[in-house]
Amino acid sequence: MSLVIIGGSSAQALAFKVAKELNAPFIDCEYKKFPDGEKYIRVEEDVEGKKVALVQSMYLTPDEYLLEYFLLVDNLKDMGAREIIGVIPYFAYARQDARFKPGEALSLKTIVSLIEKTGTDKVFTVDMHLHRVENVNRLFKIPAKNLTAIPLLGEYVKKEFILHDTLVIGPDEEAEQWAKTMAETLGTEYDILEKKRLSATEVEIAPRELDVKTRDLVIVDDIISTGGTLAKTIEVLKKKGAKKIVATCTHPVLVENALKRIYKAGGDAVIGTDTIPSPVSYVSVAPLIAEALRKL
Ligand code: R5P
Repeated sequence: MSLVIIGGSSAQALAFKVAKELNAPFIDCEYKKFPDGEKYIRVEEDVEGKKVALVQSMYLTPDEYLLEYFLLVDNLKDMGAREIIGVIPYFAYARQDARFKPGEALSLKTIVSLIEKTGTDKVFTVDMHLHRVENVNRLFKIPAKNLTAIPLLGEYVKKEFILHDTLVIGPDEEAEQWAKTMAETLGTEYDILEKKRLSATEVEIAPRELDVKTRDLVIVDDIISTGGTLAKTIEVLKKKGAKKIVATCTHPVLVENALKRIYKAGGDAVIGTDTIPSPVSYVSVAPLIAEALRKL
């Protein structure tokens, strides 16, 4: 069955790069809005009997991109697509995977169930924020795979930076998985800090015993949103005498002056991937996604 690639409006460039890597046809779609804000979508070529990989990331206006995703999947099924592989590099709502206060919506559960109900056959995510769920297969009933971009970020750091006596740091316990993979790629040690979230924009990093004097550091997290976590982490490590600090993440959401916060705290560089287009999306996840699609 031949594979074709479609990009939602959030991931046109990334989807095109994936198609190029695979030498697969890229199918254009028309996206526009009616004057009242409703969406209009048209798939410009026939997809009957085809396997379609639909790439849609869900950053900044996740609700819009989610609705567009549902409209596309349903439409592709109606058009006779044989199989739909949802490639969702940045998966929104993953942080609300539990009811932290009574009455809170279990948003992740709802989004997952809508993705399944609209007809997606398989799902790929990239470094999904899976903190309380160990495996993406626990969330989805359809086959699902969570890819990781950390080795690609590590290779980029290796190529572009001259670092001495490097230590990889994860800002909190949940970042250990990424810190470990980054350390393996760089051939260094890693350590993690302790984070307490005070609000949506402020965190506290415990100044635990850690000898980083004269060491260069690579900090790694899945998401940089407001930059609060990274800025606080860098402040603490700078006070302890760290030298060069390279901050890395898979998903550079970057809201509210996040980059300025990180540089002001003493970060020397910020490196992210193109799961979200941004000024620091130096590393492309297209080869990672292409490889996963190739193996299907
Ligand atoms: C939280 O657990 C995540 O792994 C990130 O640390 C968090 O999303 C970063 O957010 P912010 O940049 O707003 O501190």
